[in-house]
Amino acid sequence: MARNLGIFLTICGLLLGLSTASDWNILNQKAGKYGFEITLKNYCESWRMNVELHNTRDFDIVPEECVQYIGKYMTSTQYKVDSEMTIDECRVYVSTSCGLQKDGADAWIFDVDDTLLSTVPYYKKNGYGGKKLNSTAFEEWMKQGKATALEHSLKFFNELKGLGVQIILVSSRREFLRSATVDNLVDVGYHGWKTLILRGEEDENMNIQKFKAEVRKQLISSGYRIWGILGDQWSSIQGLPTAKRTFKLPNPLYYVA
Ligand SMILES: *[C@@H]1O[C@H](CO)[C@@H](O)[C@H](O)[C@H]1NC(C)=O
Repeated sequence: MARNLGIFLTICGLLLGLSTASDWNILNQKAGKYGFEITLKNYCESWRMNVELHNTRDFDIVPEECVQYIGKYMTSTQYKVDSEMTIDECRVYVSTSCGLQKDGADAWIFDVDDTLLSTVPYYKKNGYGGKKLNSTAFEEWMKQGKATALEHSLKFFNELKGLGVQIILVSSRREFLRSATVDNLVDVGYHGWKTLILRGEEDENMNIQKFKAEVRKQLISSGYRIWGILGDQWSSIQGLPTAKRTFKLPNPLYYVA
C-alpha cells in the first residue's frame, strides 16, 4: 500500500510537473486523506507502529520514503528503550504470574535473529530493509558469525537461566548455519541454553509460523511447560499451540511469514 502511495505521488508529481515522491508537501496537498497536514516523520512513524500492531503485514521491503526513518530508528536510543521495556514486561510476568515449578520442565522460547542477536549490522550495509532481501548474501553474513548481542535480551536470558528455566532457541535459520550460529551466540556471551532448533531440509517448504508451532507442539508433548516466548516476528508467537504468554520485540526492518 505504501508503495502504491509512492507511485501515486510520483504520478501526481509528474502530472503537475512539480516534483517527485520525495517532495512530501505534495502528499499534504494532493492526498489529503488524513484531513490534516502530516510530515514524512508522522507517516513513517505510523507505518512502523502499524507494522508492530500487525495491521501492516507481508511487506517485502520498507517503503522507500521511510527507509531513512527506519534506519534511524533501528540505531536509536528509542529502539533500545522500546526493547528494554519489552524485557521489563517479561520480567514482571516471570516474577508475578509464572508458577515456575523448578522441576526441569519450565521452559522459555527465544528467537535468535533480532531477539538475541542483532542483524542491524547487515541491514546497515544493505539499505535498511529498502531493498528486497538477498537471502544468499544474508546467509553468507550469518555464516561469518559477526552478529552482535542485544544486551537487554542477554541479561534476561541469564536471569531466566538463574531461575532454572530451560532455555530453548527456535530459529528460522537453516540447519547448515548451526555451527556458525552457536559460535556467534557463544562469542557474544550466550551460553547454557538447553537446545537450539533450526530448520531442517524437511521444514524448508513449510512457512515459518507453522514450523515454529510444530516445534512447540513437540516440546509440549515431550513435557515442557512453555511459560513464554520472546520474538521479534509475529510468526514466532502466533499459531497453536502457543506459550502462556508471548512478548514481541520491535522489528520494522523485515517481515517473516
Ligand atoms: C545475492 O548475493 C549473492 C552473494 O553475495 C550474489 O552473488 C548475487 O549476485 C546477489 N543477487 C542479487 C540478485 O543481487
